[in-house]
Amino acid sequence: MTETRPVHILALGGDGIGPEVTGQALRVLRHMQARHGLDLVIEEMPYGNAVWRETGRLLPAETEAVLARTDAVLFGAADSLGRGAISPEERARGSLLALRRRLGLFANLRPVRAERALDEVSPFKPRILAGVDLVFVRELSGGVYYGEPRGIERHADGARRGVNTHVYTEDQIIRAARFAFALARGRRGRLTSVDKANVMEAGALWRQVVTALHQDEFRDIALDHMLADTCALMLGRDPQRFDVVLTDNLFGDLLSDGAAALAGSLGLLPSASLSAPAPDGRRRALYEPVHGSAPDIAGKGVANPLAAILSVALLLRWSAGAEAAAREVEAAVTAALGAGARTTDIALPGEAVLGTAAMGDAVLARLGA
Ligand code: IPM
Ligand code: MG
Repeated sequence: MTETRPVHILALGGDGIGPEVTGQALRVLRHMQARHGLDLVIEEMPYGNAVWRETGRLLPAETEAVLARTDAVLFGAADSLGRGAISPEERARGSLLALRRRLGLFANLRPVRAERALDEVSPFKPRILAGVDLVFVRELSGGVYYGEPRGIERHADGARRGVNTHVYTEDQIIRAARFAFALARGRRGRLTSVDKANVMEAGALWRQVVTALHQDEFRDIALDHMLADTCALMLGRDPQRFDVVLTDNLFGDLLSDGAAALAGSLGLLPSASLSAPAPDGRRRALYEPVHGSAPDIAGKGVANPLAAILSVALLLRWSAGAEAAAREVEAAVTAALGAGARTTDIALPGEAVLGTAAMGDAVLARLGA
């Protein structure tokens, strides 16, 4: 596909450590833009709790206007726990979940690789970690995250009831599954579909739909089904067996955090969230570290920027069509780790530790900066 207009990128640092790690990610992105002559337009705008305190808006009008013409958001972090004071209307307009919905994101990719240099950092044995290279496709538009009815109700007798609804339509399952099967085709040709078909109707439907799609369109892919609890166990016991793991919004949230222990730290896991392609073939996208806002270390300059930098690699691959540049960034991270670059979250006792910016330097140095 020939690119007729630049790729518009909007950086939203957000809350907590988000701005710090996104700052390093942007240095890498701008460097790769220059190095590969990429046609990108990059803007940075305010988003999150800090701007809400000043203006009453999580997503200020000027940010919203830029978002409307954005192809790819480079997102830092959202501290959603501290948001009791924010009105439900503003949360419904500006929360991370609202952004995901607004951009039509449905396929959340969370790759997990075990870097050999971090064998000692991971709680797992090297023989379990060898060759771990899997990717979650977490369905991002449905399930209990968005299901209605939801809310906290008070009954006549004064007792309260919290309600959420786990719901999936056939169409939602098909588009996520089709994406995951296609991804598996470009990898090792294995797909594990994860559900709770033994307990949940939406899970039983999930399994039926994935099975039918496999029969109709993807017989070349080795498909297996796994219950979510079994998957939690197998990710620790035999992670090498996984290639692409397809699952719903909630299980994907849980299992990807669990799998972060394989990588050694949540501070290493990037993600890409993609919409369906528009008629011009472009998908809208949001790239973000899997880790959150880490308020305990925010502003201290010690956060690990590698998940944000690896999210830039995913942006280069999925939004900029720059596969070679994406691989260079991934290789630079591997090389920096191999040379012993460590932030606190991945340092062993007594090892020298780099701050956020110095880790950014370590990666950039390996990209010829
Ligand atoms: C994630 C996060 C989010 C989620 C929170 C911050 C809403 O945990 O992206 O994994 O649950 O989706
Ligand atoms: Mg999560």
